[in-house]
Amino acid sequence: MAEPAEPPAPLRVALAGLGTVGAGVIRLIEANAALIARRAGRPIVISVVGARDRSKKRPVDLSPYAWEDDMVVMGERDDVDVVVELVGGADGPALSCARTTIEAGKALVTANKAMIAHHGLELAAKAEDKRVALKFEAAVAGGIPVIKGLREGAAANAIERVYGILNGTCNYILSTMEDSGRDFADVLAEAQAKGYAEADPAFDIEGTDAAHKLSILAAISFGSRVDFGAVDTSGITRLRAADIAQADALGYVIRLIGMAETEGAAGAQRLFQRVQPHLVPFDHPLAHVDGATNAVVAEGNFSGRLLFQGAGAGEGPTASAVVADLIDIARGEIGAPFSVPVAELEAMPRAESGHRMGRAYLRFMVADRPGVLAEITAALRDAGVSIESMIQKGRGGEAGEQVMVAMVTHEGPESAVSEALRLLEGSDSLTEPPLVMQILGE
Ligand code: NAP
Ligand code: HSE
Repeated sequence: MAEPAEPPAPLRVALAGLGTVGAGVIRLIEANAALIARRAGRPIVISVVGARDRSKKRPVDLSPYAWEDDMVVMGERDDVDVVVELVGGADGPALSCARTTIEAGKALVTANKAMIAHHGLELAAKAEDKRVALKFEAAVAGGIPVIKGLREGAAANAIERVYGILNGTCNYILSTMEDSGRDFADVLAEAQAKGYAEADPAFDIEGTDAAHKLSILAAISFGSRVDFGAVDTSGITRLRAADIAQADALGYVIRLIGMAETEGAAGAQRLFQRVQPHLVPFDHPLAHVDGATNAVVAEGNFSGRLLFQGAGAGEGPTASAVVADLIDIARGEIGAPFSVPVAELEAMPRAESGHRMGRAYLRFMVADRPGVLAEITAALRDAGVSIESMIQKGRGGEAGEQVMVAMVTHEGPESAVSEALRLLEGSDSLTEPPLVMQILGE
């Protein structure tokens, strides 16, 4: 009689980082162990964990696991097949951990978009060289399987444009302010308490986190080299509650949108990448994306428009993406981290925005005196910008002696708006630099 087959060896995981996402990964692996083992073809078990402070009280029981103080050596341990890096930060211990893990010939899973945006190409080249997996589904759009969707589901398409809401914290702040009229700082504190924000929330509200994610999405979508430095980035820190109210009066909501697009003929393409708050028309699908939800739209030449939507941040959804990567690794799936080998990714020069056509929202804070409006409209006229609608918020508003003038332009080149703002530079009628937001088109 044949010997019974040996049960498959478990995939042994080292967990570096035990914060919001780390705790979520432990909970998920423990709660869904049986179904994960069935789908992965073998059990996935945590063998060792580590974080900064061993004595810290944690929301999960760590007693079943070994502790490792130095995450840099985790990948070198004999009881580890894959390291999950959930520390964060583009450099420092996260990067050292990633490098040593791959150099030791072990797989790496990370949720760290900052590290992948800055060092993803180096790490991917090392992983290809060592023939180990490097996976980062959780780095973009939290629990939404958008990297898998683009790498696998949409793999047959040329993607022409990818855009969407990529930061849960900003979306939570904007949609909560919109619904409740609450104060920015107060809502940001709530997003931090819910575990959505980065360790330094400036990365969220200044647009950097969305820019990290956009640069990764662009590389996967277009087969281009990750170029985080070329993302034109602005965040939501300059927005006032009055902008949200004016946008509403004009028929829009405000959302922080990341957009990447290729321009030009195949082989000589340029890459446009921008993160900026946009006005989104009430009837656009992205206008209804609220709270910490993210949504990514990808336009394929055969698939048409694809919409990926779901929780963009938080313990459970992010852990779900991390463990999905572990299941792939347990199944033996390696694949090129950026879909095509690093050596074949195209270096696309940056595309400037001046020739882009669109409508824009312009907001001026101005001194409340005669002639100011004439000065602004003259600059717009001289630059060839045509105004579609305008609202002036009267005296006695939140700004005291200042008056807010908000307008929406007709369609035209972005360079014309830039020229109008240049003409107004140094004007003592303006009490702060103007704010420009594009209006999201079709
Ligand atoms: P977090 O709650 O701040 O946890 C970070 C963990 O890393 C903590 O356990 C901390 O240790 C440990 N750590 C920090 N610095 C360390 C150091 N120098 N040496 C050793 N350990 C160190 O962060 P998180 O929200 O879980 O995020 C982790 C990663 O996932 C980040 O890259 C983040 O961008 C990414 N991410 C987060 C979310 C989300 O919704 N939170 C979503 C997607 C991606 P102690 O606990 O001992 O302080
Ligand atoms: N801080 C990030 C966000 C976490 O708010 O979207 C998810 O990447």
